[in-house]
Amino acid sequence: MKKFILMSISACMALFIVFSCQNNTENNAGETRMETKTEENETDNTAGKNTFPGFETLAEAADSQAWAEYFPNEFKYWEATEEMRITTYGGGGRREAEGMEIEKINYLELYPFLKTNYAGFPFEKGYYRSRGHIYALTDVIDTERLPDWDQRPASCLSCKSTDVVVLVNEYGDDFFGKPFAEVVGENTIGCLDCHDHRDASVKVQRDWLDTALAHDSFRNINPEGRIDLTCAQCHVNYYFDADTRKPVMPWSTGLTVEAQLEDYSKARRSDEWEHEITGALVAKIQHPEYELFHEGRNRNIHSMIGLGCTDCHMPIKEDEDGVEFVSHTWTSALVTVEESCFRCHQNWGKDEIIAKSESIQGKVYEKQNRIGAELADFIVALGEKKNNGALSGDDLEKAQAIHREAQFYWDFIWVENSNGFHNWQEAHRVLDNAEELIQQGMAMINEL
Ligand code: HEC
Ligand code: HEC
Ligand code: HEC
Ligand code: HEC
Repeated sequence: MKKFILMSISACMALFIVFSCQNNTENNAGETRMETKTEENETDNTAGKNTFPGFETLAEAADSQAWAEYFPNEFKYWEATEEMRITTYGGGGRREAEGMEIEKINYLELYPFLKTNYAGFPFEKGYYRSRGHIYALTDVIDTERLPDWDQRPASCLSCKSTDVVVLVNEYGDDFFGKPFAEVVGENTIGCLDCHDHRDASVKVQRDWLDTALAHDSFRNINPEGRIDLTCAQCHVNYYFDADTRKPVMPWSTGLTVEAQLEDYSKARRSDEWEHEITGALVAKIQHPEYELFHEGRNRNIHSMIGLGCTDCHMPIKEDEDGVEFVSHTWTSALVTVEESCFRCHQNWGKDEIIAKSESIQGKVYEKQNRIGAELADFIVALGEKKNNGALSGDDLEKAQAIHREAQFYWDFIWVENSNGFHNWQEAHRVLDNAEELIQQGMAMINEL
């Protein structure tokens, strides 16, 4: 926690620089966050409650319920990830999906082009909107995407359960290749995923992140000691190691989308497949929130001034006794604008903050769907030319290479869960590149 104090001081210094030349944004409550973070107040947090003695074993700590008596506020807010909150683009729901069962918004129905773009890969079988942490285990158990329990590897649990911390401690990297049925338990994402079982301090529990950080490829931030690295354990792009099935972040050549594509070109990765319609080798990208927010050729203002994931998604709350604590209800930041955004944007007011954000998201949302559909058209056209023999040899390879690259760029933004909010300039840049490639590819195959 000391590290966080240091981090927020430097974030605050960065804020001063920004705010001193910015008069349309108020810096009134930039202090709120700082004040609650003095060590005195941290002790206040547990005043009157049972002092946390720590857990003897990791296994005891894997059950989040066991933490409740010591940290009732955090526990209550963690449990509340069960509630669905609908914003225009997020919150576990999606306004556009009205009429669908909110519990399980089916992406394949909502966005028909996905079936073409993911043809030949499990995502064409089942793809639902993501939702709160409490559902992570249920959702991986239920998915149509994975084979039967005795065939799927334990690695599918990697980002879904506190049990992983216990079992990796026991089996080391042998854990990831074990059968799912043998290791699946009852604990979803919880306290032990981000906290030390002995003293509850904030802790990264997944060593694959340390491996990824060792590439030293961050350019925009210094990741060392950041508390939002807890999110980078899971909200990042990854594939499974070919031998151990352990998650690997493709960060060996950098964190931009181009750099990650370069990493994929070193060897065929677990989430790559030969596209059923075009035969191109394509990759399935997974939710690169951390990379898009902090990195990219374009840098977002919010990362630049020192904000991290927790600033917007874990805002400060107060209980009935006036005790301040950090929200553990991870959801859309647009449902907590007073606590998450007012310290800088109060002068805009709540409605305006939401309107400005959704206007930014709307442009990315429209573009990612339009390009998703254009990609599907290109795939179908390429498949036809391939089948009727109009396209073969070098030309076919060239067209497949275009498909591979365009799909990589489009998917990187499509699967990122903020609909561009986290870094809208970068989202547009990457999508524009995808579209240009698709147009080039179309022009090329139409000439044949
Ligand atoms: C400046 C505030 C801010 C920061 C910092 C931030 N986010 Fe977000 N995040 C948002 C907003 C706003 C949305 C869009 C919510 C919506 O569409 O309703 C969002 C959406 C999301 C979503 C999808 C949530 C949903 O309801 O659909 C996830 C997951 C997410 N962010 C994770 C992260 C991670 C991980 C980080 C750190 C790398 C991060 N965020 C940093 C503001 C922020
Ligand atoms: C996804 C990661 C994550 C999970 C899961 C998580 N925490 Fe936290 N927790 C954090 C982070 C990060 C902070 C520091 C936030 C800050 O200082 O801004 C924190 C802060 C805390 C604090 C410090 C006091 C405060 O200000 O709230 C306590 C106590 C705590 N968490 C308890 C819990 C308990 C109990 C659970 C399970 C019910 C839990 N946490 C689950 C990431 C997590
Ligand atoms: C152990 C892995 C893990 C960690 C650590 C983690 N997340 Fe998540 N997060 C997930 C998974 C998996 C989901 C989707 C669950 C589902 O849909 O069943 C999710 C969902 C979310 C959502 C809701 C998305 C939606 O569409 O409603 C938000 C917001 C979010 N996470 C933010 C964060 C933030 C911020 C942190 C860091 C403090 C964090 N997460 C840490 C795995 C993790
Ligand atoms: C620590 C200060 C800070 C926090 C907290 C913060 N922002 Fe910002 N935000 C800025 C700054 C600085 C800018 C760039 C200057 C400007 O547009 O005022 C900005 C820009 C924006 C913009 C772009 C405005 C435009 O039209 O170009 C949006 C939208 C936005 N923020 C939304 C949010 C939301 C939503 C939250 C909370 C979830 C949030 N911000 C939290 C400081 C902050």
